[in-house]
Amino acid sequence: MEVIYNLSDFREYRNSLDSQSKIIGFVPTMGALHAGHLSLVEKAKKSSEIVIISIFVNPTQFNDPADLMNYPKDIKKDIAKLTPYNPDVIFIPGLKDIYPKPDTRQFDFGNLDKIMEGESRPGHFKGVAQVVSRLFDIVRPHSAFFGQKDFQQLAIIKSLVKQLDYKIEIISCPIVREKNGLAMSSRNMLLSEEARNVAGFIYKVLWEAKESYPSLLPEEISKTAVEKFKNHPDLKLIYFEIIDSESLESGKALNKSSKLVACVAVKINDVRLIDNLIFV
Ligand code: PAF
Repeated sequence: MEVIYNLSDFREYRNSLDSQSKIIGFVPTMGALHAGHLSLVEKAKKSSEIVIISIFVNPTQFNDPADLMNYPKDIKKDIAKLTPYNPDVIFIPGLKDIYPKPDTRQFDFGNLDKIMEGESRPGHFKGVAQVVSRLFDIVRPHSAFFGQKDFQQLAIIKSLVKQLDYKIEIISCPIVREKNGLAMSSRNMLLSEEARNVAGFIYKVLWEAKESYPSLLPEEISKTAVEKFKNHPDLKLIYFEIIDSESLESGKALNKSSKLVACVAVKINDVRLIDNLIFV
C-alpha cells in the first residue's frame, strides 16, 4: 500500500500501470471514513486487480462555508482504517492538484439536480460533478464505487458518465447502517451518542413508509412521514420525497411501473443527515 500526496507522483504511478492492462477499481471519498466506505473498498477489492482510494474534501461541493469548516477530517485515522484492506494506493491530492485554476464548468442534469439535495444545497452537484470528472480524468479507472446513501449523487454521476462518455462502470453499493438503522455517514461523527440514538428514527419512518406501500399511495405515504418528522421534538425535516428511482421524478410523474425510493434529509443539532430506502 502506497500513500501518494501529490499529482505528479500519482501520474507517474498511474502511467506505470498503462502497460499492465489491469482492472482498476476506484473509490473516491472525502475521508472521515466509516464502515460504509470500507464496504466500498471491500467490493472494489473483489472485482479489481488494482484498488485506488482518493481522499479529498472538495470545497466546490459545499454551498455553506461553515459546513466545509466543520466537516470531519482525520487523515491519520483514515490511513489506519484502510491499512488492513491493503489497497494499492491511497491518493491524497492537494487543492492545487485538483483545481490548478478555478473550475468554471457548468453541467446540465435536467431534473436530476433541481430537487432534494440540489434544491436545498445550491451548486452542490455542480461541485460533485467537477471533482468526480477531474478525479476520473486523473485516475482513469475501469470502475468506480459509490454508496447508495447518496442516491441522488449516484444518479448525477451516472448522467455525468454518459454525458462525458467515460468508459467507467459506476457501481452502487448498499447502505451500511448502525444497529438502530442510522445510515453510516461521516457526519455521524459530529453527533453525540444521544443524538445518534435519536437519529435511528429516520430509518424507522423510512421503513414504515416502505411497509405501507402499495396499500397507500405515494402522496399519502409522504404526508404521513412528513407529519411524523414534524411531530418529532429533535429532528428538523428538510425534505421527504418519494421519487422514481431512475428519473427522480415525483408526484404525478410516478406511474405503476415506477420503482420507488423514499429520500429524506433532516437536521439534528444542526448536523445534516440524508437517507433513503428503495420500495421493492
Ligand atoms: O460522496 C462523497 O464522499 C463525495 O461527494 C465524492 C463523491 C467523493 C466527491 O467529493
